[in-house]
Amino acid sequence: MGSKICFYLVALIVLSLVDHIRISGSLDLDPNFYDEICPQALPAIERVVEEAVQQEPRIGASLLRLHFHDCFVNGCDGSILLDTTCDFTSEKFAVPNNNSARGFDVVDRIKWEVDRACGGPVVSCADILAVAARDSVVALGGPNWEVQLGRRDSTTASIDKANTDIPSPSMDLPALITTFSNHGLNLQDLVVLSGSHTIGFAQCSLFRNRIYNENNIDSSFASKQQATCPLTGGDSNLAPLDPTAALFDTKYFDNLVMKKGLLHSDQQLFNAGCETDSLVQAYSSDPDAFAMDFVNSMIKMGNICPLTGDQGQIRCNCRKVNSN
Ligand code: HEM
Ligand SMILES: *[C@@H]1O[C@H](CO)[C@@H](O)[C@H](O)[C@H]1NC(C)=O
Repeated sequence: MGSKICFYLVALIVLSLVDHIRISGSLDLDPNFYDEICPQALPAIERVVEEAVQQEPRIGASLLRLHFHDCFVNGCDGSILLDTTCDFTSEKFAVPNNNSARGFDVVDRIKWEVDRACGGPVVSCADILAVAARDSVVALGGPNWEVQLGRRDSTTASIDKANTDIPSPSMDLPALITTFSNHGLNLQDLVVLSGSHTIGFAQCSLFRNRIYNENNIDSSFASKQQATCPLTGGDSNLAPLDPTAALFDTKYFDNLVMKKGLLHSDQQLFNAGCETDSLVQAYSSDPDAFAMDFVNSMIKMGNICPLTGDQGQIRCNCRKVNSN
């Protein structure tokens, strides 16, 4: 009797596993993926990130953004880290990344330290980006969470997909919603993940039109921004995305409510009667709700089409595909 039930249970588990692999083409990620093969891996990543953020707080923002730009192009597979080869042009030169994505040298340092700690290339570059994003948020005062692990690295990159699949700051709300839903992310994911703009900076050329030509902007905020971002020249001058660029807080949402969003795409989330207004208001007044929803959406974003099992590879150098 008991053994019969057991047999059926095992059969059910095996069947559902087979089914699962067949349907999804891959295995699920797992927060304990490195517990046996290299328990030193996550502490090593954390040490390098903490040191880098201590030296330059902005690097935490830059690392968080790298994970986002990785996941939105063919899934979280480390493709953004590959340099140009004969076979493909690096995603680093795509419009959203060129002269904008940064932190690649810190990723190299993490990779070196983590391979040293593990005695070999055990941790994928895609997982390094996911863990470094979490450690950056924590280092800047944000929420902590268990990162899902077991991603493997791509053997190719796509500058074309990087150009089409990463949202642009000039997009209106419907286009932003579409970009996110193309990645299985909903309205709430869009709003809460945009809350990442509670840390970091943007270049003048990317918000100039907003501070000179838009109406849904606080006028004293616009004048203040115009002082560091002139009508002509100063394209790469930096402004903080919210007033506390080195602190992971809810000031970003407070600012949207006051029409002090820096990017056009930011203010689109709170814009006179649009469907995301109430979410912005909610996160502005409830930091715990923001923290909780942010964590859930980060895990969701980190689950976009990972390579797992025997797909892809564990790169020896995050900038290069392994040569066999
Ligand atoms: C909703 C659509 C989004 C758009 C249109 C957008 C656009 C931008 C732009 C234009 C910048 C400034 C880049 C520069 O000046 O070089 C930026 C910075 C940043 N973005 Fe986004 N972003 C979006 C969503 C996200 C998401 C989902 C995340 C993370 C999960 C994120 C994280 C960041 C961070 C942390 C920075 C600051 C980077 C630094 O200082 O180095 N963004 N974003
Ligand atoms: C990237 O930026 C560099 C330096 O500003 C520029 O020369 C190059 O044309 C840009 N590449 C692309 C593909 O736009």
